[in-house]
Amino acid sequence: MSEHILVSQSGQVRQLILNRADKKNALTLAMYNRLSEALLATDSDPEVRVIVLRAEGDSFCAGNDIADFVAAVNNPDAMQAPLNFLRAISGVSKPLIAAVSGAAVGIGSTMLLHCDLVVASQQTRFQLPFVKLGLVPEGGSSLIMPQLAGHRKAFELLVLGEPFDAETSVELGLVNQISTPEQLQQRTMQLAEEIAALAPEAVRQSKALLKQNMHDQLQQVIQAEGELFAARLHSAEAQEALQAFIEKRSPDFSRF
Ligand code: COA
Repeated sequence: MSEHILVSQSGQVRQLILNRADKKNALTLAMYNRLSEALLATDSDPEVRVIVLRAEGDSFCAGNDIADFVAAVNNPDAMQAPLNFLRAISGVSKPLIAAVSGAAVGIGSTMLLHCDLVVASQQTRFQLPFVKLGLVPEGGSSLIMPQLAGHRKAFELLVLGEPFDAETSVELGLVNQISTPEQLQQRTMQLAEEIAALAPEAVRQSKALLKQNMHDQLQQVIQAEGELFAARLHSAEAQEALQAFIEKRSPDFSRF
């Protein structure tokens, strides 16, 4: 499945590209593993100063592959791949810039909380539908979202789970700037090259300073969320919601 993650290099900028456009770049276990490997390899590669995360097709990422969630009930290790990915992306020492357009759902939004700059096209639709799926927030979002937006807004976004647009994402501090869909990649690469031209050690040390206070707490929260999330996948509530997605119907939680 390595064709679902592409890696390309221009100058000192390494691009990691989600390439499963027909499924809106929903992440399979193989994609998480490949992304984790690529992030770790890139972080220690002296040829790379900046990492860009982007996607092919009309959507950034529709979150975890729902069929994998359903199958996770019979696979006790199923949450290991997303957890390893979250540890990798939240621990990257080099600057990480994301270019986002279309759907950015679930981990397609929460992975952005670990990027240093995010450029979103006007067409981006963010959504954190964990509770709608009978699940709980992941990716450190239960820690970072209240810090960004306060408890009430974080509750609204993480529990009601309705989609929000690029302008709202800038107000929240989730996104730095908005571009047209046509200019998204060019604008992102401009920023990447601007950062790549800066003193590399000063950039990395500055990033480390910005993140050092939260590092240990964030790793603990990602782990705790992951354990609860994995347990929730076995719940009857989540099984109803996931089955409903596959059957293209609304979930019915009335019996719980
Ligand atoms: N897992 C697996 N397949 C997914 C997927 C996911 N998370 N998200 C989308 N797909 C698939 C669809 O099943 C569909 O496949 P098909 O063509 O074989 O039927 C294809 O991708 C296109 O999706 P579709 O729903 O037709 O596109 P859309 O533009 O109408 O809607 C989304 C896009 C992202 C809003 C919608 O697909 C969606 O809500 N996906 C689920 C997101 C989600 O809940 N993720 C988990 C978060 S924890």
